[in-house]
Amino acid sequence: MLFKLQVLFFKFIMVFLLIGTKILNFRKPELFSGSGSSLQLCDHIAKTGVKKLLVVTDAVLMKLGLLNPMLARLKELGVTTVIFDGVEPNPTIAQIETGLALLKRENCTAILAVGGGSSIDAAKVIGARATNPHSVRWMGGLFRLIFWPKTLYAVPTTAGTGSEVTIAAVVSDPENTRKFAIMDPRLVPTAAALDPQLMIGLPPHITAATGMDALTHAVEAYISRNSFAATDVEALEATRLIMQNLEKVVKNGADLEGRANMALASFKAGVAFTSAGVGYVHAIAHNFGAYYHVPHGLANAIVMPYVLDYSKPECTARLARLAEVGGLKKGGESDEQLADSFIAKIRAMNAEFGIPTKVEKLKSSDIPAIATAALKEAHWTYAVPRYMDKPTCENLVGKMLAA
Ligand SMILES: NC(=O)c1ccc[n+]([C@@H]2O[C@H](COP(=O)([O-])OP(=O)(O)OC[C@H]3O[C@@H](n4cnc5c(N)ncnc54)[C@H](O)[C@@H]3O)[C@@H](O)[C@H]2O)c1
Ligand SMILES: [Fe+2]
Repeated sequence: MLFKLQVLFFKFIMVFLLIGTKILNFRKPELFSGSGSSLQLCDHIAKTGVKKLLVVTDAVLMKLGLLNPMLARLKELGVTTVIFDGVEPNPTIAQIETGLALLKRENCTAILAVGGGSSIDAAKVIGARATNPHSVRWMGGLFRLIFWPKTLYAVPTTAGTGSEVTIAAVVSDPENTRKFAIMDPRLVPTAAALDPQLMIGLPPHITAATGMDALTHAVEAYISRNSFAATDVEALEATRLIMQNLEKVVKNGADLEGRANMALASFKAGVAFTSAGVGYVHAIAHNFGAYYHVPHGLANAIVMPYVLDYSKPECTARLARLAEVGGLKKGGESDEQLADSFIAKIRAMNAEFGIPTKVEKLKSSDIPAIATAALKEAHWTYAVPRYMDKPTCENLVGKMLAA
């Protein structure tokens, strides 16, 4: 009875969120796409009159020389660059503060993020901290920024998080063993480039995990109770593109067309979930990131089939539609069968990519705290199709214990 009342309350809050996101109609970045588009973005940055730019990235990409053409172009155009390459996967508050100190010391007026979701998110928060009086932790949650952040440009090198178009930045807080999101429409970058050329060196296991993250965004947005016509179009198209291209690019990273399609899919999935939200997959996966440093996409890929099995009774027709756009319909199947085939396909893709069905480091003694944190995140932020109480969540997480 108490749980039913709670669910009613959460649904009531979600209606307000839905009305809010529809009214706000979040802006999108000015988009450059295709091979070489990262250089077009550099030209655009120079034209806006930026003289000193903080480039936020990670040490792996610097070592690979991935940024060299962009840095050379910016130099040619008279833009001074200051490099901060201290971002690591699942970026922490401490890394953000180090980047912020550099931005202030060097008086940079704008930021260019080049990298995966970790670099783009870190850059978002550095930009927000530079102009707002509050701490990173204080800005956690919805609409907590007071002032506009520094102008941000983004070049994703994974396909992926969709962070180049979302209102979110996810931060790790190791002192409190948690990951939390800062969500504000003003965090959406001003302009972004989807350049598949930068993605051809992405190793197969990261291609797979980040691609499954994009798929999770599309799926969770599509089955969300806060989805609407515009988010449905983007989520379905993202699912179609991922189902047609992810396996190809995992096998052949140099498939430029496949890479471009995955970059577009990630962007579209980002558009869908920035309005419709995500769900329990993310809420649980964030905790696997916080507790055991499981990379975000990998955590989502592992959790997704379990959550979809649980959610299916309340979203069978929607899962069936995802199966259809994913090319799984042969003809004559019921929605129930199609929904099952969609979940089975996700399990098959995971197996093909070498993604495990269990979380190696998961400890049974952590499960109650993980369930509490996941439900807290989900119930105040996501319009999930089928709510779960704590024992149900603990049971679901327990299924991912390795032996
Ligand atoms: N802001 C959002 O809306 C949003 C959405 C989902 C996830 N996230 C967050 O994004 C982060 C994960 O980002 P990610 O999955 O893109 O990975 P990532 O940025 O953590 O990068 C993963 C690894 O891939 C490497 N890499 C990236 N691009 C490469 C390339 N082209 N070639 C070779 N190596 C490359 C990086 O150096 C890094 O070692 C997590 O913190 C997650 O919570 C944010
Ligand atoms: Fe994600």
